[in-house]
Amino acid sequence: MSTSTGNQDNFHNHRFVHDFRQASPYIHHLNGKTVVLAISSHVLVSNKLPALAADILLLTSLGMRLVIIHGCSQFIQAIAGQNTANSIDENPITDERALELVKQASGIARFNLEAALSMIPTQVMEHSAPNVRLAGGNFLRAKPLGVINGVDMSYSGCVRKVDAAAIEERLAHNQLVLISPIGHSLSGQCYRLQVNEVAQAVAEAIHAEKLIFLGTQPGLLDEHQQTISELNCIEISQLLAKSVMNKRQTELLQTAAHVLEHGVQRVHVVSGLQDGSLLQELFTREGSGTAMAKAPFMRVRPAENKDIGDILQLIAPLEASGILLPRDSEYMENHIQEFFVLEQDCYVYGCVALHVYPEAQAGELACLIVSPSARARGYGELLLAHVIKQARQLQLQTLFALSTHTGDWFVERGFTSATLTQLPLERQQQYTSNKRQSKIFSRQL
Ligand SMILES: CC(C)(COP(=O)(O)OP(=O)(O)OC[C@H]1O[C@@H](n2cnc3c(N)ncnc32)[C@H](O)[C@@H]1OP(=O)(O)O)[C@@H](O)C(=O)NCCC(=O)NCCS
Repeated sequence: MSTSTGNQDNFHNHRFVHDFRQASPYIHHLNGKTVVLAISSHVLVSNKLPALAADILLLTSLGMRLVIIHGCSQFIQAIAGQNTANSIDENPITDERALELVKQASGIARFNLEAALSMIPTQVMEHSAPNVRLAGGNFLRAKPLGVINGVDMSYSGCVRKVDAAAIEERLAHNQLVLISPIGHSLSGQCYRLQVNEVAQAVAEAIHAEKLIFLGTQPGLLDEHQQTISELNCIEISQLLAKSVMNKRQTELLQTAAHVLEHGVQRVHVVSGLQDGSLLQELFTREGSGTAMAKAPFMRVRPAENKDIGDILQLIAPLEASGILLPRDSEYMENHIQEFFVLEQDCYVYGCVALHVYPEAQAGELACLIVSPSARARGYGELLLAHVIKQARQLQLQTLFALSTHTGDWFVERGFTSATLTQLPLERQQQYTSNKRQSKIFSRQL
């Protein structure tokens, strides 16, 4: 009994150490960076708001400079009933009554958010609670949309100017800036603004590192309702051209495409209702939602015949120094379906293979290579994570690796030493015949 508890403790400790190490480069990178969070009113009315607010406070304590823009449609619904809220949401014209409701709803949304951000998270001792100051103000200059196709849009407006210097000043004083989707004109009139448009204008004006949309969906969804984990600008324009996304997702893609072309490094679409999604998106390699960037991300994909030349080039120097087994193009052609490549912008920077031994419910990770120019940036681990995911999907129980020089690397990533008899029979015979005396490592999946 005590042994099993001990094993579980070891597992959790190992998991914690692994996750903490994985998060550290992201924590360093985001320290001092400016991030705009656009939070849907669906999240603000839900009982998940306290958990999200605690995570937002955690981000500020890690040195991130945050600007929050909030939606208000759910609060309009609470004040005026669903029908009125729907008609205000869908009507591009904002009349006097609608503007009054938007002002009231924004006020409530803002107070709720302020209250949530003033709570002391339960995991923090009262005396060491972060003292986060919130700053509001007239940061947005608006202008009326005017008359469009003969129709007066009344109090519907658009952003004329963002007072970036004023926002910057608050951020420099470690304040968290809150912005409502309402702007003021030079004549003192209020105009209703769209949250997306405000988020876009603010993120660009203050040169934000990231713009993050927190909504009800786990991310942008493909045609099978699966979360799309990464998109670059080319893929965003291809998706927009296909017109397959719904109205909300299309608007998010358009905003992302615009801000990425205007200096924002990343746009994320994350669930605000799923506990911890924001932290997972920011501090893990797998993320939780959709991350968008201008340039293509480094990614792992199944190898194709066209990659054989690149893979052989990666193998050649390691083969010459005896680190890897020789593989020729005939071998590669016959086994290409076992390989995955690490690719960015059409260049192959690494590869890995997964040989499956179905009877033994085991897999062998082989031919793991990251090109010297891309090493020590976590890509080896990215390839390992991909193989583990594939092996789990194939319901394998064990993953093993044979290595002459890289044993420590595997041990540091959860593998333990194994004996020859633990290998599948077929692999034992190969091992004995090739006489390389590689060390054997395995890990349970
Ligand atoms: C092993 C290899 C794939 C790691 O790729 P990578 O992208 O650099 O891996 P990661 O970024 O995840 O890890 C880098 C860390 O591993 C360490 N590392 C690299 N090679 C190592 C080795 N042979 N033994 C132990 N640790 C090693 C690095 O020093 C670095 O540690 P640090 O950040 O603490 O300084 C890469 O070094 C490689 O291609 N090596 C040659 C081929 C090989 O040996 N393949 C394995 C046999 S199947």
